[in-house]
Amino acid sequence: MSEVIYLDYNATTPCDPSVLEIMLPYFNRQFGNAASKSHVYGWTAEEAVEGARAKTASLINARPDEIIFTSGATESINLAIRGVVEKSLVRQPHIITYATEHKAVLDVYALLATKGISVTILPVNTDGSIHLSALEAAITPDTVLIAAMYANNETGYILPVKEIGAIAHKYNVLFFCDATQAIGKIPVDVATEQIDLLSISAHKFYGPKGVGALYIRKKMPKIIISALQVGGGHERNLRSGTLNVPGIAGMGAAADLCKQKLEANGKQLAALRNQLWTGVAAIEGVRLNGTLTNCLPNVLNVCFDFTGGDNMLQRLSKNIAASSGSACSSVTMQASHVLKAMGLSEPAALASIRFSLGAPTTKEEVTKAISYIQTAATGCRK
Ligand SMILES: Cc1ncc(COP(=O)(O)O)c(C=O)c1O
Repeated sequence: MSEVIYLDYNATTPCDPSVLEIMLPYFNRQFGNAASKSHVYGWTAEEAVEGARAKTASLINARPDEIIFTSGATESINLAIRGVVEKSLVRQPHIITYATEHKAVLDVYALLATKGISVTILPVNTDGSIHLSALEAAITPDTVLIAAMYANNETGYILPVKEIGAIAHKYNVLFFCDATQAIGKIPVDVATEQIDLLSISAHKFYGPKGVGALYIRKKMPKIIISALQVGGGHERNLRSGTLNVPGIAGMGAAADLCKQKLEANGKQLAALRNQLWTGVAAIEGVRLNGTLTNCLPNVLNVCFDFTGGDNMLQRLSKNIAASSGSACSSVTMQASHVLKAMGLSEPAALASIRFSLGAPTTKEEVTKAISYIQTAATGCRK
């Protein structure tokens, strides 16, 4: 496996060794329940949780009491969107999002639509950009929520989050931002960007899997949402269930690490991603999906014309771990909904690959990857 060059860091990242070290004691020696208020085992666990809450909050310029721990971004997204809609006093709430959102958002919207909630899914331009005027025009007196992601998981495209936040607040609409891919890669600031609710997932920034957070604004405006699960009343009654102390401690450590290294990592990733693009662009019949100017520093999404389906990925899989946005449904491949929303044809979307780089990626790996990609493209077109 170590022979295979990993270029799928948007799917998940390895736990940083320092993060793992911080987590380990909470599995056995310090195994207390953070809700046990009457002894030192519980106090130690609570201290770890509260430390992690402060570090996670600091990464996005929030207050610690605005962070609710969850099992990951999917749960945070469900809690945010469904929690807002359920709490809304509007008789028939209307919610808005974009066609390029992650399935975790789009599927929640689809579910709510079946329950009579009015849903608007706005289109995007060919590079993934949006028209803010169209967003403003879509808002109605019944609109309660706009959901827009910070950066796209497939193309890396960064949306104008600050402007979306300003529009939402101009009309007293709440703004939920799925920042799962942006966190740890670029600066995120919930205060200046007027974000009301925001999802985070630790495994995307060198933390453990199965732990995440939802930021919920406490002031101007104070956001009140409904819980999706009830029970012991943990996390301010919003997410009942014994806390995953090792995971949460790991997320806090990963957040701290990312904050310290954000700028340096971003520059290094952009340089490597540009090296990859320079090499790949020299191959015949290659097109960039999206743009590199308004993009996460680690992502490159490329269409290899006439390579057919997942042929390229299959050929590459011996040497490179990358991914397409495509999903397998029983026997057929489905083209990425993100690329199709950007206007790509079904065959072009199927012939596209996302390469996503991470902190461990080296120049040598990129050089080797370019050569593997060249060979695979030639092989596919024979
Ligand atoms: C943009 C985006 N949102 C949400 C998710 C879901 O995250 P999790 O795995 O933490 O549920 C992902 C994961 O790929 C993602 O990329």
